[in-house]
Amino acid sequence: MTARIIDGKAVARKLREEYASRVQTLKGEHGIDPGIAVILVGDNAASQVYVRNKIRACQETGIRSELFHMPADTPESQLLARIDALNADPHVHGILVQLPLPQHIDVSQVLERIAVDKDVDGFHLYNVGGLVTGNTVFPPCTPYGVQKLLEHENVKIEGQNVVVVGASNIVGKPMALMLMQQDATVCICHKKTRDLGQFTLLADILVVAAGVPGLIVPQMVKTGAVVIDVGINRLPDGRLVGDVDFEGVRKKASLISPVPGGVGPMTITMLLHNTLISAERIAGIIGD
Ligand code: GUN
Repeated sequence: MTARIIDGKAVARKLREEYASRVQTLKGEHGIDPGIAVILVGDNAASQVYVRNKIRACQETGIRSELFHMPADTPESQLLARIDALNADPHVHGILVQLPLPQHIDVSQVLERIAVDKDVDGFHLYNVGGLVTGNTVFPPCTPYGVQKLLEHENVKIEGQNVVVVGASNIVGKPMALMLMQQDATVCICHKKTRDLGQFTLLADILVVAAGVPGLIVPQMVKTGAVVIDVGINRLPDGRLVGDVDFEGVRKKASLISPVPGGVGPMTITMLLHNTLISAERIAGIIGD
C-alpha cells in the first residue's frame, strides 16, 4: 500500500480564499472590518518569525492586524493593562499573545485576562475546559487545523481507534478531546508511555505531536492507517522534518500528511478562521 499524501497547502489556500471573500462581505454588507491584535513580548527569534507569518496571512486575507511589540522587561501589570484595553476595543475581534512569554510573567494570568470571545488562539481556561463538553468559543488552532484536514479528506472519525502521541496543552490534549467529541475511541501516549508501538499499532488514525524526529517508524503503524504528523523539527543539516519516518510510513498508511506542507499551513489558517468567526458573530452571522 502507498498512502495518498494530504496537500495541506492546497486545503489551506482554498479555505483562505473562502475567508477572504467572507471578510469582503463583512466589510461591504455589514460595515465590519475584522481585526486582530497580536502582542509579542521580547525578542525570541522564532516568535518573531511566527508573528510575521501570522500578520502576513492576515494581510492576504484582508484582516486588519495590529502588532504590539513590548520589550522583554515589560512588567506583567503593563501587559495586563494592554490586554484590558484591547478587550474593551470594539474594533478588535481577536487578541493573540505570542508564547513563550519572558520568565517573570505568569502565562496563565495573561491568557485568562483575554476576553473569552476574543481568544482566537483558544488558550483561555474557559476555551480549554469547553473542549470537554464540546462548547468552546474558539477551538485551538493546530488541533482544529487537523480536524479540518480530516474533514476535508472525508476521514470517518466515529468509532475509529485514534492514538494521539504527545500530551501538550496546545496540541495533544485538545486534539484528543476534539476527536473524543466526535465519538472516536481515543488513547493518548506521551513521554512516559512504555512500548509506544503497542499503542500506535492499534490506531486507525494516528496523530503525532511529540517533537521527536523519526519517532514513528513503519513497524509501529497499522496497514491502511491515516497518519497525521504535527511535528516540526529542524535537523542539524537544516532540513525540516516531522515526527514520522515519512518515506517508510507512507508505504504502509492509506493517507499521510507531509512535513512541511501538511498540518503547518492549517494552523495560521485556523487563526484567520477564528478571527473571522469572531467578527461574523458581531454581525449576527453564526456559521462555520
Ligand atoms: N507559540 C507557539 N505556538 C503558538 C500558538 O499557536 N499561539 C501562540 N500565541 N503562541 C504560540
